[in-house]
Amino acid sequence: ILDRSEREKINKHEAKIIWLTGLSGSGKSTLANLLSYHLHQKGFKTYVLDGDNLRHGLNQDLGFTAEDRKENLRRTAEIAKLFMEAGMLVIAAFIAPFEEDRENIRNIIGEKDFLQVYVSCSLEKCEQRDVKGLYAKARSGEIKSFTGIDSSYEIPLKNDLIISTEDQSIEESLAILLNFSLQNIKHQL
Ligand code: ADX
Repeated sequence: ILDRSEREKINKHEAKIIWLTGLSGSGKSTLANLLSYHLHQKGFKTYVLDGDNLRHGLNQDLGFTAEDRKENLRRTAEIAKLFMEAGMLVIAAFIAPFEEDRENIRNIIGEKDFLQVYVSCSLEKCEQRDVKGLYAKARSGEIKSFTGIDSSYEIPLKNDLIISTEDQSIEESLAILLNFSLQNIKHQL
């Protein structure tokens, strides 16, 4: 039967989940997509799950209360697990601001298949960049419960990797992430 280990053999690499957590604007999605692209070029089967994308479809019924974030992340972890069982290397980019939810994700996926990457960047810097203009809206009160403004981001402690995008170029961050992935995902391509 075509189970996970059979699929891993066909793909010539382990299936795993790399989870990027960090503030909005820290560079998670950009890094996830670049990592996916570069690993794909090396022959890996990759798939990106992204907060902004999933919230347009599967999770469109959910907002940003603690309860809704919990459910958003629970569903996402289950989906990520399905992709993993299909043999893929999944790269997930979600704020996942609460330790309890990150623990829940870890439990759903399983410790040995879960790699947590903290994309570290100060609120000041993310707000200064304000790529989507959401920090300005959060400051003016147009958006409520915005992470970093009126909803907290608990600094993650159980990380497999920390990347600081504070003063580092995206290319430098990507190089570190790519190297980390190649070291932590067994492959024979
Ligand atoms: S999570 O907290 O549940 O993990 P998720 O990663 O799915 O969040 O979604 C975050 C994205 O939703 C942000 O990048 C931003 O574009 C958008 N967003 C809209 N409202 C909020 C809000 N109140 N807090 C955080 N992000 C928000």
